[in-house]
Amino acid sequence: MKRITLALNWKLYLNELQSIEFVERLNHSKDQFDNIDLEIYPSATAIRSVKNVLNNSSIKIGLQDFSIFENGAHTGSLSLSSIEVDSCIIGHSERRDFYKENDNLILKKLRISNDKKINTILCVGETLKEKEEGISKEKIKSQLSILKNLDIQIPLTIAYEPIWSIGTGSVPSNEYISDMLSTIKSELKALYSHEKNSAIKLFYGGSVDETNISNLSDISLLDGFLIGSAGSKFEKLINMVNSLV
Ligand code: 13P
Repeated sequence: MKRITLALNWKLYLNELQSIEFVERLNHSKDQFDNIDLEIYPSATAIRSVKNVLNNSSIKIGLQDFSIFENGAHTGSLSLSSIEVDSCIIGHSERRDFYKENDNLILKKLRISNDKKINTILCVGETLKEKEEGISKEKIKSQLSILKNLDIQIPLTIAYEPIWSIGTGSVPSNEYISDMLSTIKSELKALYSHEKNSAIKLFYGGSVDETNISNLSDISLLDGFLIGSAGSKFEKLINMVNSLV
């Protein structure tokens, strides 16, 4: 059976002390995570503490976002050189929406993570309006088109996160997700060799929790999940892991 990855995007849910407490509980329940791969994206200010406390080296730690500026006079920014991480998220819809990040900027970030050989999760997804207008696939294709300008050299994951599903409890049917993942696959096929393509993983994100993860894991094209709210609550994480075995 395929190993599922749970990537926990902690957003701004847990501060440094809460992150440490979460990781201490993870350390005590290490055995429960034998059958899945875990990635954690804490607040940047908690990354050092999380790395220090975590005693499970198979868990990857990453940045939720980073600046295109490497160093210098950029008040309030942090870059992929600010702290050593295994992976990063680029193009999350909350960055695209609240911080007006466009595809041009997202491509610049992808170039940086590619140059630095950092595993990358690229997020794509349509709004409710785009879904209602029947242009979801066009939206995804246009977001993926930036990859044309990049010779990808890193473990890349595409996370399909319909914006209308993030934090709403509204989860698409497995058929809908499969259809969108197939579209992503065929776009990637047109861009990269078979070898590169088979290394690219596909995640789903949007209101994943212990009530739906088992059913969602039936989607054959899925390699894992990018989880927000439910992944920041330890009991919910344990319930999700248990419902996958
Ligand atoms: P929720 O799981 O809270 O809906 O968030 C999903 C998400 O945005 C993960 O990146």
